[in-house]
Amino acid sequence: MGYQYLSKQPDANGIVPYTPEEHDTWKCLINRQKEVVKHRACDEFIRGLELLDLPLDKIPQNHEVSEKLKSLTGWSVAGVPAVIPAEEFFGLLASKQFPAATFIRIPEELDYLEEPDIFHEIFGHCPLLTHPAYADFMQRYGNLALKANKKQRTRLFRLFWYTIEFGLLKTPQGLKIYGGGILSSKAETEYALDKNKGPELENLNIQKVLRTPFRIDMIQPNYFLIHSFDQLYELLDQNIMGLVDEAILLGDLPYHPKFLQKEVGGVFDDHPC
Ligand SMILES: [Fe+2]
Repeated sequence: MGYQYLSKQPDANGIVPYTPEEHDTWKCLINRQKEVVKHRACDEFIRGLELLDLPLDKIPQNHEVSEKLKSLTGWSVAGVPAVIPAEEFFGLLASKQFPAATFIRIPEELDYLEEPDIFHEIFGHCPLLTHPAYADFMQRYGNLALKANKKQRTRLFRLFWYTIEFGLLKTPQGLKIYGGGILSSKAETEYALDKNKGPELENLNIQKVLRTPFRIDMIQPNYFLIHSFDQLYELLDQNIMGLVDEAILLGDLPYHPKFLQKEVGGVFDDHPC
């Protein structure tokens, strides 16, 4: 169990008062990660980073990121507590607001934390929220998840996990990363494209994704590939809830053997982030 984080409350002017140490953590993370994602992240992510022009020396306020996103895709960033109910999370996505917990990891957890912090949310996801197909997928996904019951939502969240959080993109220039869970982690960004370390790769098959459980507390042993963001968006043209119900009937596939090498107590696969 890691450190217990709490979101910071904005002041009367809507400004979240981060400390100099917290700004230093952001500075360290963003300067390091901008180098790591070069040539590894997909072009759309790199373009999004350029468009957002995130500060390198301080944590941006949500309204600053929102102003840029709004002019591009109509999205904004909503400050939320560290953990929010699933209905609230998906309701925000459905209304084009990206939930971001307003805390940043402590220096002791610079390289690894289980809860999504402001660096993960802003650096990992917001660059691609400048891309219309990715942003529209996110909104459609929020609408679908809002209508799902708990059992359906667990399966549906695997689609989010294996795309938005941990997706890879096949491009004419080779394999690139678009998942925010990967791109906000130095270790996982380096690992994901490292053929020697052997993450397993396969083309995204939605039925398989819906039946594949995961763990949130370790580097992922397997990734699913898409070939475009239009493909991602068009996934939701199918009868997704019908596929979800079919996945429930068919049952889950076994956990990847690497997930079982560590104690199974940490498995938790319906965590919105
Ligand atoms: Fe995330």
